[in-house]
Amino acid sequence: MFEGMYAGAEAGGAKPPWDYGAPRPQLVAWAEAQNLAGGGREALVVGCGYGADAEYLASLGYRTTGFDFAPTAIAAARRKYPASEVKCLVADVLDLPGEWQRRFDLVVESLTVQSMPPEQHTEAAQKIGSLVAPEGTLLVLATTRDEGSEVKGPPWPLSRVELEDFAHGDLILRRVERIEGGAWWRAELSRGEAHSTNHAGGS
Ligand SMILES: C[S@@+](CC[C@H](N)C(=O)[O-])C[C@H]1O[C@@H](n2cnc3c(N)ncnc32)[C@H](O)[C@@H]1O
Repeated sequence: MFEGMYAGAEAGGAKPPWDYGAPRPQLVAWAEAQNLAGGGREALVVGCGYGADAEYLASLGYRTTGFDFAPTAIAAARRKYPASEVKCLVADVLDLPGEWQRRFDLVVESLTVQSMPPEQHTEAAQKIGSLVAPEGTLLVLATTRDEGSEVKGPPWPLSRVELEDFAHGDLILRRVERIEGGAWWRAELSRGEAHSTNHAGGS
């Protein structure tokens, strides 16, 4: 479905509804609130689409990788930012490179898990969580679904309980906020001792 939507946009059709050509405001607000600075640490953007969020993290000083399973989106991202230092790759959340395990200081997941069928949510959330480095942070942005309510997706927004799926092994759910008038989750997870995500130079 996603590859079809990106290919359609490429052919002059409607652009994907989630893309508005700029970094996601919910990510920017989170980063600005803590004066986030990458300081050469590694960041990963899951389901990066055209790459605006990955470019944003790179501009904050992260060595950034973005991946998406839609080859047309990745090709467009490379074209859009020809001088970019972001690594843009085709990869599937459910089949990720082994060397990515526990590697990234910051992982940003925005709206990807909920775009997958509900029976894949737990596996996808755990696989995304496994990419976070010791002392690293996972930011999850998703739209909300009340516990027990049924939705006809896609998308299949996440319930509060589904956010717990990301907290696998020693990854701990530190903070969950309902933002955008209750329509979105913003959740922060990290490994090890409680610490601030402001891990690189903020005040
Ligand atoms: C709703 S869009 C969100 C895009 C972007 N993260 C954002 O917040 O605007 C979901 C993205 O996840 C990608 N995606 C869906 N399932 C995926 C999977 N299994 N592996 C990698 N990418 C996936 C889609 O191609 C699409 O670009």
